[in-house]
Amino acid sequence: MSHPTPSLSHFKRSDYQHIYEPAEDTFLFLDALEKEQGFLTDLNPTVCLEIGSGSGCVSTFLATLIGGSGTLFLTTDINPRANAATLSTAHHNHIPLDALRCDLLPSLRHTIDILLFNPPYVVTPSSEVGTHSIVASWAGGIDGREVIDRVLPLVDGALSKRSVFYMVVVNENRPEEIAERMRMCGFGMEVVLGRRAGNEGLKILKFARQA
Ligand SMILES: C[S@@+](CC[C@H](N)C(=O)[O-])C[C@H]1O[C@@H](n2cnc3c(N)ncnc32)[C@H](O)[C@@H]1O
Repeated sequence: MSHPTPSLSHFKRSDYQHIYEPAEDTFLFLDALEKEQGFLTDLNPTVCLEIGSGSGCVSTFLATLIGGSGTLFLTTDINPRANAATLSTAHHNHIPLDALRCDLLPSLRHTIDILLFNPPYVVTPSSEVGTHSIVASWAGGIDGREVIDRVLPLVDGALSKRSVFYMVVVNENRPEEIAERMRMCGFGMEVVLGRRAGNEGLKILKFARQA
């Protein structure tokens, strides 16, 4: 039986002019987390952090999936309206969560047990990358990799010893090249789920420290 998607009934249609409306990529991410429920629960995380939380749907889902009063759920987003939206979704679904407005990650050293990121992965001109508006939801620049490539070098320093990082990509982002980069930082990669949605070949990647 599938775990319920968080209620988003507090949003108006017009809210999605300013924050990312959960779409196929979001729902594939939820399906992947649900598939990983046993592993994630066994991890017994203390700190979970989602980069780019948008509506807050993914972190709220994770919190209901693995629960636990001892777990701190944190989110970041560069778009201030997304921080507010994330808090309202958490509140609406009775989830305690803190939403930070920051670029990518706060400087937490070896602290995060579960890291999530559904990045702006669409191939766009570089000039579209780096806004604080709804455009930041999708604009990924060259190969859709410009934001992704800023995150990859931060992962090793931010993650705790027993940790995991999940990220959404499309085929244009060249997942095998991302795997190679992460391998050089000591992380193995596997594909948890993949799905074709329109012209997007979506994948959910899972990175864990190699033994
Ligand atoms: C594809 S949307 C995903 C939203 C939500 N997590 C979901 O799955 O529906 C990407 C999100 O990343 C945010 N974002 C883009 N660049 C960012 C950055 N440098 N730091 C933090 N958040 C960023 C956007 O504002 C947007 O909310």
